[in-house]
Amino acid sequence: MTKRSAVVTATGSFFPPKVITNAHFEQYLDTTDEWITSRTGIKERHFVEKGVAASDLALEAAKQVLERRGIQAEDIDAIVFGTVTPDMMYPSSACLLQDKLGASRAYGFDLSAGCSGFVYAYTTGVMLVESGRFDRVLVVGADVCTSFMDMTDRNTCVLFGDGAGAVLLEPGEPGQGMLEAIMQVDGSGAPYLNMLGGGSLNPTSKETVEKNMHTVHQEGREVFKHAVTRMADVAVDVVKKGGYELEDINLFVPHQANIRIIEAVAKRMKLEKEKVMINIHKYGNTTAATIPSCLDEAVQTGRLKKGDLVVIASFGAGFTWGSALIRW
Ligand code: ACO
Repeated sequence: MTKRSAVVTATGSFFPPKVITNAHFEQYLDTTDEWITSRTGIKERHFVEKGVAASDLALEAAKQVLERRGIQAEDIDAIVFGTVTPDMMYPSSACLLQDKLGASRAYGFDLSAGCSGFVYAYTTGVMLVESGRFDRVLVVGADVCTSFMDMTDRNTCVLFGDGAGAVLLEPGEPGQGMLEAIMQVDGSGAPYLNMLGGGSLNPTSKETVEKNMHTVHQEGREVFKHAVTRMADVAVDVVKKGGYELEDINLFVPHQANIRIIEAVAKRMKLEKEKVMINIHKYGNTTAATIPSCLDEAVQTGRLKKGDLVVIASFGAGFTWGSALIRW
């Protein structure tokens, strides 16, 4: 018996209205628009207002998905929510989103995989549908990165933004949907990208606050090296594993952490510029939201069409990395 497939039947994305340009950081940090643009590709990003959480951004993206698909929230069977900035330690943002959306029949859970949150959540959602037990799975990638940013650290605060993206997975025809996936972790990468405070190792205390342990710590150069090789290698491997050649790819949708990482990966994959989806200049690194928001933009602008061969790939804190080959 052929396994049933899981296809994306609708996409959505949402960014909070407040736009922060590079000039904002020039006002109070030893940095320039020129440095940020040339070293990262980022021109602007969106920040939430105080009190807006990951589930709020996800809610807007999810509403778009439902509207575009023409279904009700009660039709959703499961919510897989990729994030490293859940609204709170618990309950999960998936629970909070379920309630806000009115997805009365859905179960759901959060998935923590750094910037690979969406790739992991997507592949998990696919497996739920492929199993035959669930027909409509909402996969979300949403992060309020401002909640972990140290706005006085020029090494990190210029890199991130807030946002959400979502896709709906439903049963499709054989040969459609996810054709192959490779997912990996290497926990020895933990010292290079982390937020040490607030978990069970270092519960929140006066000391953790004074030591600035509730904001992101990143050794950029080290992360950069691993990101390029691992993201390119896993994307090449997933295409080969699926029995295709790199030239067969219609669209490559990489995680958006740095334009130089994206360009280096595309070069290693020998992909022309036109085949690489980029939105980092508008949104910065929105962690789990980068890939679903790119997919949504590609669909809405006609760059991604039914039948196209798509590769998504990510690299992030953990280290985590992964890639999926998709017949759209
Ligand atoms: N403005 C001006 N100068 C700066 C700034 C800034 N905003 N930030 C850093 N610099 C300086 C540094 O202090 C350093 O100065 P020094 O030479 O006097 O020490 C110099 O610029 C070069 O610093 P590098 O860290 O070597 O700069 P690099 O070119 O590597 O760029 C960056 C830094 C953008 C962070 C890059 O390394 C990068 O993108 N790394 C990977 C990020 C990534 O992929 N993260 C994974 C996903 S995130 C997640 O999972 C949550």
